[in-house]
Amino acid sequence: MPPFGDDISRLILDHPDGVTPVLVGEDALVAARPELAAWLAGRTAFVVTTARVWALHGDRLEPLSRSAARWVVLEVEDGEEAKSVESAERLWNEMLAAGGKRDSRLLAFGGGSVGDLGGFAAGCFLRGIEFVQVPTTLLAQVDASIGGKTGVDLPGGKNTVGLFHHPRWVVSDTSVLATLPREELRSGMVEVVKMAALLDPDLFVRLEERMETLLAGDPAALGPVVTAAAAAKIGVVERDPTEQGDRRLLNFGHTLGHAVESACGYTGLRHGEAVGYGILFALRLALSRGLDRPSAERIHALILRLRLPPLPELDPETLLAAMARDKKALESGLVWVLPRTLGEGWMVDGVPSHEVQAGLRAFLHSPFTLPA
Ligand SMILES: NC(=O)c1ccc[n+]([C@@H]2O[C@H](COP(=O)([O-])OP(=O)(O)OC[C@H]3O[C@@H](n4cnc5c(N)ncnc54)[C@H](O)[C@@H]3O)[C@@H](O)[C@H]2O)c1
Ligand SMILES: [Zn+2]
Repeated sequence: MPPFGDDISRLILDHPDGVTPVLVGEDALVAARPELAAWLAGRTAFVVTTARVWALHGDRLEPLSRSAARWVVLEVEDGEEAKSVESAERLWNEMLAAGGKRDSRLLAFGGGSVGDLGGFAAGCFLRGIEFVQVPTTLLAQVDASIGGKTGVDLPGGKNTVGLFHHPRWVVSDTSVLATLPREELRSGMVEVVKMAALLDPDLFVRLEERMETLLAGDPAALGPVVTAAAAAKIGVVERDPTEQGDRRLLNFGHTLGHAVESACGYTGLRHGEAVGYGILFALRLALSRGLDRPSAERIHALILRLRLPPLPELDPETLLAAMARDKKALESGLVWVLPRTLGEGWMVDGVPSHEVQAGLRAFLHSPFTLPA
């Protein structure tokens, strides 16, 4: 194993198909170069990315092109647009036309949308080729790149077609976050708060101490936070690789969050911002199920410090219908992920729909207050 500076962490995700090292920190891409170069030696490398990410940070990946036999950059659309069956089909055709073989390599270089599409394309091409995740957004570094879930959207629903295909490595270079728009940083930070609130109270304290520096995109400050959040996600994924149990803890804030995204037609609010509102609402349910008030207030206050954009006017009935359609809903009804105390979460089923309905009305009226 090559030596890394103090600022690079190497985590390991153990999963049913092997192990995935996760390298995190400032200039992690430089530290990972020898391993990636050896992995690429003599192979065709397909780099799936977007025009924006390539223009901003392609030079950080480019040195690896000298190690590969062939270096093929495949640009896809920016954002969620990339996650379509058509984009995947385009990639497969281009890879085939470029002579891709079963031992070709793929590098997914971009945000979560590029990672989900790239992983899916790699997982299906010739029944599966090896790939690495090089996530370039905070959300992708702490969440989307870890755990092997890949996929695309259908017109009828997000992430409706996909498969588990773990990357060979995840390389999360926090230097690239310096160019991330502040709104994207905030969106990813909601997921960090989510993990800290249910899984890592020490990380929660660090967020309380440094939130404004982190939101300014300081790569050195972000390094340990991305590492801790990635470690928290790795812990849950290892306990529950196929999302039957503990992994559902990661859905804290997502029950209402997904409904808000869907009710807004996936425009206006970013995913993390919608989840931020989902967390604020879940805290109300949690308070009436034994969550202590000081913990609720701390989680609430930290979300408020992210300064979420205003919640569009939404009809509670539309939100309830969207929650009922959520693919995470079971035949038996909705399961709410709630904090039991700071650093510990639990799954609660049987929350009566009249309680959710009444709670939602009150919440939509004043989302930023925590009722007495
Ligand atoms: N597979 C999983 O387990 C998992 C988990 C969570 C989310 N996701 C998926 O992740 C996707 C969202 O990912 P996201 O939030 O990263 O959004 P994204 O991939 O759409 O990227 C957001 C924006 O940031 C830009 N960008 C990316 N890196 C940049 C950089 N370094 N500097 C400047 N701009 C940059 C992109 O061009 C894009 O416009 C969703 O499709 C979601 O379903 C997957
Ligand atoms: Zn999320």
